Amino acid sequence: MIAKAKAGNVKLRPNVKTHKTMEIAKLQVDGDLSNGIVCSTLAEVSFFASNGFSDITYGIPVFCMPISQSTGCKISLIVDSEVQVDELKNFIEDQENAHFGCFLKIDTGYHRAGVDIRLNRATGLLAQKISGEKNITFRGIYSHSGHGYQAQDTAEAQNICLEECKMARSFADFLIEKGLDCQIVSIGSTPSCGSSNQFPGVTEIHPGNYVFFDRQQVQAGACKEADVAVRVLTRVIGHYESSGHMLCDAGSLAMSKDLAPQDDHFGFVEGCDLVLQSLSQECGKVMTKKTSTGKRAPYNMDDYPRGSLLKIVPNHSCLTAACHPLYYIVENDMVIDIYKPCRGW
Ligand SMILES: Cc1ncc(COP(=O)(O)O)c(C=O)c1O
Repeated sequence: MIAKAKAGNVKLRPNVKTHKTMEIAKLQVDGDLSNGIVCSTLAEVSFFASNGFSDITYGIPVFCMPISQSTGCKISLIVDSEVQVDELKNFIEDQENAHFGCFLKIDTGYHRAGVDIRLNRATGLLAQKISGEKNITFRGIYSHSGHGYQAQDTAEAQNICLEECKMARSFADFLIEKGLDCQIVSIGSTPSCGSSNQFPGVTEIHPGNYVFFDRQQVQAGACKEADVAVRVLTRVIGHYESSGHMLCDAGSLAMSKDLAPQDDHFGFVEGCDLVLQSLSQECGKVMTKKTSTGKRAPYNMDDYPRGSLLKIVPNHSCLTAACHPLYYIVENDMVIDIYKPCRGW
């Protein structure tokens, strides 16, 4: 993604929510802790600020936020309504030396959060309100193309990216015409940035999931099967010949319950036709994948004696990774390191 951003002439402000570790965050910024990152929880903001990152954006629209100012760290917030600016202003007034950066969140098609940029006047006024506040610096606009996850292939994901760039640029130009200092135009998600090499008109991209990828990204056309970097290691704990399934000790607390859009199961077993077909909290049913006729091919459970280890490729690595207290870093089947992610909110 660093190479892609360089080639596309944009800055990469990576999201660290997928892994929440210092080790991977450093890779994302090529060792430059002043580069700027996006976090998804206040716990992450504190964790990365106390470990030396100096430009952190909290990527969720802010709710009257009692975040303490970390020395030496510029913290930016995302707002998409007037009331948030008022709350922030009140909060700042009660603090000593509080100063925040602020991005106006715009909706470019995901419809989860962000102002409706078709209402140009109202959203322009909101940007003006942010800019006019003491101790708040208006940094620019921020859009997250989560609808890129609905793409069926690379071409569709790329179109979503180009459309997002176009909408963000045109809204930034509108703000600039109104006299606002809209320096940053920040867009992206992994499906959209992963499938495009061009980001016309924007100044930066902020994908995050690309550090691991997963089945959802494969199906959205953002990466190939071989690019997925995460596996959950699980043990076969029982054979149930009459129903054709084996039980393993990975349940929804190890995988999450997210599906990949084109599948009806919770993960592939690497290197064979088995899938994790259903999940309870602490265990899951493993069987062969359904064929196009709705039948399942037979398999020999003796090939997987109780205690054998299966590697499951997850559907959504952000949620799967968040289920685990540690990551084992594996090279050539050897554990070469252990990373400890930040947890909690
Ligand atoms: C606000 C925001 N920005 C950026 C991202 C990164 O998107 P992705 O994980 O698809 O790369 C996310 C992910 O959910 C997000 O919520």
